[in-house]
Amino acid sequence: MGLKKILLSPPHIGSNEKKYIEEAFTSNWIAPIGPNVDGFEKDISDFLGCGHVAALSSGTAAIHLSLVILGIKPGDCVICPTLSFTASAAPIVYQGAEPIFIDSEEDTYNMCPILCEAAIQELLLENKKPKAIIIVHIYGMPAHMADFLRISHTYNIPLIEDAAEALGSTYRNFPCGAMGDFGIFSFNGNKIITTGGGGALVSPDKNLIQRARYLASHAREQQAYYQHSEIGYNYRLSNISAGIGRGQMELLGARIHSRRANYKRYHNFFSDFKGIKMQSEPSSAYYSNCWLTTIVLDPVIWDDITIPKLTFEMEQAGIESRPFWKPLHLQPVYRHARYFGSDIAQNLFERGICLPSGSNLKEDDFQRIFDVFLRLLKRSKAPVTLNR
Ligand SMILES: Cc1ncc(COP(=O)(O)O)c(C=O)c1O
Repeated sequence: MGLKKILLSPPHIGSNEKKYIEEAFTSNWIAPIGPNVDGFEKDISDFLGCGHVAALSSGTAAIHLSLVILGIKPGDCVICPTLSFTASAAPIVYQGAEPIFIDSEEDTYNMCPILCEAAIQELLLENKKPKAIIIVHIYGMPAHMADFLRISHTYNIPLIEDAAEALGSTYRNFPCGAMGDFGIFSFNGNKIITTGGGGALVSPDKNLIQRARYLASHAREQQAYYQHSEIGYNYRLSNISAGIGRGQMELLGARIHSRRANYKRYHNFFSDFKGIKMQSEPSSAYYSNCWLTTIVLDPVIWDDITIPKLTFEMEQAGIESRPFWKPLHLQPVYRHARYFGSDIAQNLFERGICLPSGSNLKEDDFQRIFDVFLRLLKRSKAPVTLNR
């Protein structure tokens, strides 16, 4: 029998998810409303310790609704980091607006606040004030929130936190996703907890979340008949999916603990190697949920080991790994978008890899992953690669 495939970030289901789903069946709440939806929204807001929450069908839907509520329209521009998944920017285009991409900073890999502010100043000179700033906490690492909150406040531009990957991460003890005007989470199958597909929109403003719930339910007004004065969306989470989410929320603390332990396990191993950089918390103000552990290979020391070669070797050993997000300004679909920055995100993409990071990784799995690196090292032309 072949070895079991080690996946990048598989779902990790506990025992209570089924209980909540069964309750939904027993009570016949098989709909996009119901007690699990209410309970899941409360679980998230209790966990965050602040904010109002709308449970939605995806993180992308949550970003989209935040832009709709902010009134983003054709001709507007919205700032977004280039190093992210397309879903961070696609809703800008849904609204007919223009994404303005910003390069990463070296330490957290998140959007560089200096470049972000420079971009705003240049756009203001052109009389093109950005209508929103989307920041992403990439791979779970909090962005420099003090800077982004200052920028948002100084220029009076709403801040949307794309915390799809960062549920449980904090910055100066404030939860990622609950510091901006809006925050979003994803419960896609690969996230730290899952509803098998889902998302949430968070805001300190109760009225905005009420509006989100209304827009997410086809903007149906409170009448006995179907009354609609504006266009809405079918973006609510189902009561079944929310049941999975409720069970998963009970395990979130344990899942964060496991992902952070994975990071430490990798860190111990890679500290023996020269030329391998890990994404690390710049100070005690940053607390990452370590959703994915990543490494970046120094191109001089690891010159004969490219990312395609490394992912191929991993694949051969039955291990799933992924290159970093391809910067959005380099994606064909965004080729006409404006970009502020140089090649930091591009270098991360060319030299970075995401390693298996599931909360159910076992020591045997780590050994299989480490063996790939040790084998590659033996074959490498790099003269001195071990620190030892
Ligand atoms: C940074 C980021 N933003 C947005 C999303 C979109 O979330 P969803 O897949 O739930 O629509 C994801 C992941 O899927 C993501 O990683």
